Amino acid sequence: MKPPAAAKITYRWRDPIADEEMCDLVLSHGGSPSPGWWPRISRHSLGWVGARDTHRLLVGFVNVAWDGGDHAFLIDTKTRGDHQHSGIGRELVHRAAAAAADAGCEWLHVDFTPDLAPFYFDACGFRSTEAGLIHLRTDPRYSGSDGS
Ligand SMILES: CC(C)(COP(=O)(O)OP(=O)(O)OC[C@H]1O[C@@H](n2cnc3c(N)ncnc32)[C@H](O)[C@@H]1OP(=O)(O)O)[C@@H](O)C(=O)NCCC(=O)NCCS
Repeated sequence: MKPPAAAKITYRWRDPIADEEMCDLVLSHGGSPSPGWWPRISRHSLGWVGARDTHRLLVGFVNVAWDGGDHAFLIDTKTRGDHQHSGIGRELVHRAAAAAADAGCEWLHVDFTPDLAPFYFDACGFRSTEAGLIHLRTDPRYSGSDGS
């Protein structure tokens, strides 16, 4: 169900977000919250965008990780379940990209499952690129490795 079109949403870079709010947001879109995740992760973030409705309810979030230089990484985009498809995700990503540019980053990376291509390519303006991934926890070359 779409929220009322007139619902006013406020977006804020580095919006203070409590762990309980993050867990509630994750639950709302059908995810599995992990208490303590956000306080642990946020320390390593360039910044993040929080979206709130007029009652200050957290309705959207995206995090920006970075390498300390030119590369920023968009991760964990989320919109509250009953607020999806009202443009919040696109606006979150746009604001995160603008903040990364303001911080001096040159590139914004993202990866995602194929079903989300319409969101990231068409709605948010990313272009396709070659990328690679190793799942370190299950790759026998690295899982249980002593680093040698
Ligand atoms: C992906 C997600 C953040 C999109 O948020 P949103 O606020 O609904 O996005 P928007 O309203 O800005 O969508 C703009 C357009 O992107 C596309 N889009 C949005 N969500 C999509 C989805 N889940 N799959 C495919 N395309 C999608 C649609 O074309 C949409 O336009 P429409 O509403 O007219 O159909 C939201 O679906 C979500 O929280 N999903 C669960 C968590 C998740 O999977 N996050 C992605 C991690 S990589």
